[in-house]
Amino acid sequence: MQPDLRFTDPDDFEKYVARKCIDLGYEVIMPNKNTPGYDIEIVKGKERIAVQVKCHKAKQNIGQYKKFVAFLELPVASNFTGGWFISQSGYSKNVLSLAEADREPNLKLGTIKERGITWNYDPDSAPGENIEDQIEDVVEEKDNNVKYFGIFTCKGGVGKTTVAAHLAGAFAIMGYDVILLDLDPDRNLRKLFLQDQDSDEDASLYIPPNKKGFLGSTITVLNADEWDERQYPDVKVVICDCSPVLSENPKNLIRKFDYCVIPTTLNPLGIAKNGDVITRTFKHIRNENNKAEMFCLINSYSGSQAYEERNKHLLALVEKPIREYQKQDSKCQLIHPDYVKIRESRALRYWGYHLVDGSPPQLAFKSVANRSAPRTDFMQLAEYLEDHTSITATKGL
Ligand SMILES: Nc1ncnc2c1ncn2[C@@H]1O[C@H](COP(=O)(O)OP(=O)(O)OP(=O)(O)O)[C@@H](O)[C@H]1O
Ligand SMILES: [Mg+2]
Repeated sequence: MQPDLRFTDPDDFEKYVARKCIDLGYEVIMPNKNTPGYDIEIVKGKERIAVQVKCHKAKQNIGQYKKFVAFLELPVASNFTGGWFISQSGYSKNVLSLAEADREPNLKLGTIKERGITWNYDPDSAPGENIEDQIEDVVEEKDNNVKYFGIFTCKGGVGKTTVAAHLAGAFAIMGYDVILLDLDPDRNLRKLFLQDQDSDEDASLYIPPNKKGFLGSTITVLNADEWDERQYPDVKVVICDCSPVLSENPKNLIRKFDYCVIPTTLNPLGIAKNGDVITRTFKHIRNENNKAEMFCLINSYSGSQAYEERNKHLLALVEKPIREYQKQDSKCQLIHPDYVKIRESRALRYWGYHLVDGSPPQLAFKSVANRSAPRTDFMQLAEYLEDHTSITATKGL
């Protein structure tokens, strides 16, 4: 879908948006040019709205969405009753899916059209209504290749299973049917997704759609020997939860990995003891597979300001050997936590409690006050991987 209008000058775009707000009956107040967080303030009766405008050619992504949502929570934004995020190019499908999942009550996402602002997310619309006019955007160029993601590191207990399951959840929210291959002999993943703990038959989860009239997506957990691409023609994403002992993973699957996600934590003892674990992991995979792109991901990140300085130093220690290794293998990289990280969270720490209390399987995406940090982080990871990889598919139709 081509946008109706194209601005190249951000000031022209800002003025155009301001005019559209006046048309909607708002009084417009332009703050100082360098005011952070928003571009226009609009007022009508008791409403006082911070409007952020983006003149980008590209659609807005989850990072930009998150930043504006975070701004609205700052004390400096407490005078506002709400926030409008206005784009000239619309939003990635992932932002729309996340906005539908978050359902922020004071936020609206809009796109400028010749006739005015079209709302892509509006909390006053019923769930699913917002993105109906974008259905034509959803059908994309189809890449028929199944993409394999290996979640692997030589080190135990840093979040492989947690990341595999929740990355699958994020891809499912984005509309992909996902197969989760449980390659760890402990079979944790299978247990975590079993619908009935007394029967080993059905380890799966259905993720309902965000859009009216669409089908949801499924996550199905299989063992390596149960997986056959021909039997699952709709599946485009396969995520493997690997055993930390490389030789315990089937070689034929390791060779199939298109992408490898290597979780690590910023933990002084771990770094001191296993300083080269990431480069060792890169080497192990590369010995078996010469095409995989590898992404080191920071997991269990402590976001508290008090630890900012320590995180910076620890990150530098993780980053140094990776940079060095990159000289010989450019397909290996660290995802900088400024872009994507998985924050430490209680929801993830206690994920799996359903095994204890007997409730049905679920992901740690449940919202608290509308928000779920793990859901946002994993959606951002999925979007990052989608942007850096070539998975495109006909999703959720
Ligand atoms: N972001 C996070 N925040 C809080 N807790 C986390 C996070 N990620 C993982 N954990 C916790 O860390 C522990 C180890 O995670 P997980 O089992 O996923 O690691 P693993 O690499 O699969 O381990 P193994 O090598 O034993 O298979 C679990 O208790 C999990 O709940
Ligand atoms: Mg595990």
